[in-house]
Order: sequence, then C-alpha cells, then structure tokens
Amino acid sequence: MKFNPLKEKGMPLEKQIRTWHDIAHRKYNKNDVDCYSRTRQILMNGIEVEAWNFKHNFSRLCEHQDTMEFLAQTKRIEDAQQTTINWLAPSDQSVLETTLGYEQVAVDLTAWMAQNEPDPYVKETFDFGLLEDFDHLYRYSQWAYMIHGITPNDVVQGQTDVILGRPTQNHHNCNIVRLRKHYDKKSASPQTKVNILTLVSGEQQTHNYYGEHGFTYGSELLRETYAEIKDVEEEHVTMYESLIDPSESFYEKLLLHEFTEVCTYHNCMIDENDELLMPIWEEFLAMELDHLHTAAELFKKYEKRDPQEVIGEEVVHPCHFTSQKEYVAKILNDEIGKRLGSDKDYQFIKDIPEDWASYKVQELAGKDGSPSEVTIRVIAEQKGRDLVCASEELEANLPKLAKKSLQNKGMTEDTVTPEEYEKFSKEKFEL
Ligand SMILES: [Fe+2]
Ligand SMILES: [Fe+2]
Ligand SMILES: [Fe+2]
Ligand SMILES: [Fe+2]
Repeated sequence: MKFNPLKEKGMPLEKQIRTWHDIAHRKYNKNDVDCYSRTRQILMNGIEVEAWNFKHNFSRLCEHQDTMEFLAQTKRIEDAQQTTINWLAPSDQSVLETTLGYEQVAVDLTAWMAQNEPDPYVKETFDFGLLEDFDHLYRYSQWAYMIHGITPNDVVQGQTDVILGRPTQNHHNCNIVRLRKHYDKKSASPQTKVNILTLVSGEQQTHNYYGEHGFTYGSELLRETYAEIKDVEEEHVTMYESLIDPSESFYEKLLLHEFTEVCTYHNCMIDENDELLMPIWEEFLAMELDHLHTAAELFKKYEKRDPQEVIGEEVVHPCHFTSQKEYVAKILNDEIGKRLGSDKDYQFIKDIPEDWASYKVQELAGKDGSPSEVTIRVIAEQKGRDLVCASEELEANLPKLAKKSLQNKGMTEDTVTPEEYEKFSKEKFEL
C-alpha cells in the first residue's frame, strides 16, 4: 500500500518531549548487534545532526514568527532524537570499531543508492565516492587490528569486503575540482533529492566523528591517518552537497529535510529486526510526520506552492542496507583509475592533464608522506603483509588494481607499489 507522508497521522508536537531516562538509557550489545542495525544507528545519528544544524541556520535568517516558533520547538526534539540514537553505541565500543561501522555505512549505503538513483550523473558521483570510502575501511582495518587485535569482520560481519580501493593519498583534490554539477530542482525526482541529502548527512557526521575522536589514540601515525581521512570526508561533503540545486529556498529545504527524516525512518522501520531499535524508528517516524506536516503548511503559506511538487505523493527509500560485495567489486575493477575532471566531469588517469589542480594539492599535502600509505608499511613490517578480508578473486586481482590506480604525479615516496602488493599476496596473514 502506498505510504503518503502528507496524509499519514503523526505524533502531536506537545507529546514529543521525553524524559532524560527515555532519552539516554538504551544501548546495544556490540557483540550481538547485527552490523546493519549498527549502520542504521550511525546513519540516523547523522540525519539528526543535519536536521538540528539546518534548523539553527534557518533560524538565524528567518523573519517569520510562526516559522521561528516551529524551528525553536523542533530543534530540541531533533536534538533529543540525536542523543538517543548516538548513545545507543555502548561505552565498550572502541573509536576504531565505531570507525569501521562508519565506513561500512559509507560503502554499503552509497553502493545501494547508486543502484537506486535515477539521475546518471548523480549515480556516477556516488560510484566515484564509493571507492574512496571503500579504501578508508581498508586503512582503518589495519589499525583496528594493530591497536585492539580485532579483525574487520568483528564489526562488518563478513558483509563488506576489506581490501585496497582507490588509494587514500589520491583522494586529496583541489576543493574547486570537487564541485559537481547540481540537479535542477524542477525536474529532479524526490528520490534523487533524498538520496543526496541522506548521503551529505552521513558524510558530514563521518567527518565530525573523525574530528572529535581521531586524537584519542596515542599513536602519532594513527592521529595523522585520522587527520588525512577526515580531510577526505570534508571533500565528500563538499562534493555531494554541490549536487543540490542552490536555488532551493529555505522553506523548500525545510520541507526536504523533514521529508528525508520521514523516508529514512520509514526505511529503517521496514528493515529492522532488532527489538531495541525497532520501537525507536517507529516512534521517531511518528514525530517526523508531524514535523513534515507543519513544514508543508509553512511552505504553502510562504511559497504559495504545493509541497507535492517537491516531495511527491509517496515515501522513498534511500537507505536499504544489504551486502553489496558484487556491485562494489565491479565498480572497483572498472573505475579505480577514475579521477575528478576539471569540468565537473570524470576522467581516467591517462587523460588527466599535467596541470590538474589536484596534483598541486596532493604534492603539498603529501610533502611529508601519506600516513595512510605508511599504515600499510607498518602492518607489513609486523605481519609480512596487509590485512585483507575479501573474495579470492578480488584478492588475486589486487596487484593489477594497484597498478591501475597509480598516477604519474602526486604520489608520495611511501607509496606501496603493485610489486609489493604482489609480494603480500603470497604471504599468509597470521591472526
Ligand atoms: Fe529528527
Ligand atoms: Fe570514508
Ligand atoms: Fe566519505
Ligand atoms: Fe524533524
């Protein structure tokens, strides 16, 4: 049956204030939780951070008293939802374990969205970003082993492959080059708008998490690795948000934010099996329906337009989590050598001009080396090779992939070479 969020009944705003106990007492068991319940928890935290942050920005520019009142009341609700969701993570889940969860979100969410995205240019951008977060998962997995003695499968539960992607040292671009073409708000589908806003929220929260936690380890090299990858997440926010039509008004954006919250909670609710998380998705969906109805009324009043022009008549699903190994392996094989073109296009390494602005950034940022490359050298020093959890086929292909990803410029002296990967592939990683 069709679920039209504009017609479904929500929870009245006056019933949305909750007790401190209700807000803060729930947490999952990191050893029992399904990896995709954890990815939903991580993503929905990011969705709420964005919802809250956007409302503060809107409030600072808004002159309409009724809108100010709505924003003032619901900012607190979004914030309490965020606390409940973020604090579901138990205190014994280490920063690196949570980090592997964040990168699993990025890989499996982006892969699913790419296959579910009607706009081919937006899809290409998702596929492009996918291979970068895929590489982050591989780099952090080395650290989770070296610091905590765990394998990535303790977190990703065999659902996501862990192996070299487009190397992190090549993710550093001129941020002008990162800017992409935006969709047209009049013709873009609600699915495209919700996909992008969901992904921007996830990437922004990943960036924030690394910024707030990367310093909590004593290892100098791990701190630098977090700094390096955090900066890539900054680029990801820049890239994905540039896909949004900048001429959307604040009221249109408010409508889209509440609609995205409705869609993501609805998606979480239909996919969830965990008894602790399920009631949270249901309750918060009811709250968001009410937010959406008010946002739709304000949109009608101040924009004199029909909200259905923007969000359609049906919920869309942006965040179905399931294993994406096959799809990711295909994109990896086809696109590891792809780079961002200077005309908002994509190019393979052989076609990139010598004066590409991103080479300059890579040379400057990589002057003292690339921590993400040194990471592989450090684990190989101890174990004879890197830690990989992937299909035999993918692993056998690795030296070739490493070769395809080599650039002529912008590479640090620490770069692990395809020959070294070839050597690794003959070694067994002893746990
Ligand atoms: Fe919310
Ligand atoms: Fe990432
Ligand atoms: Fe990312
Ligand atoms: Fe909301």
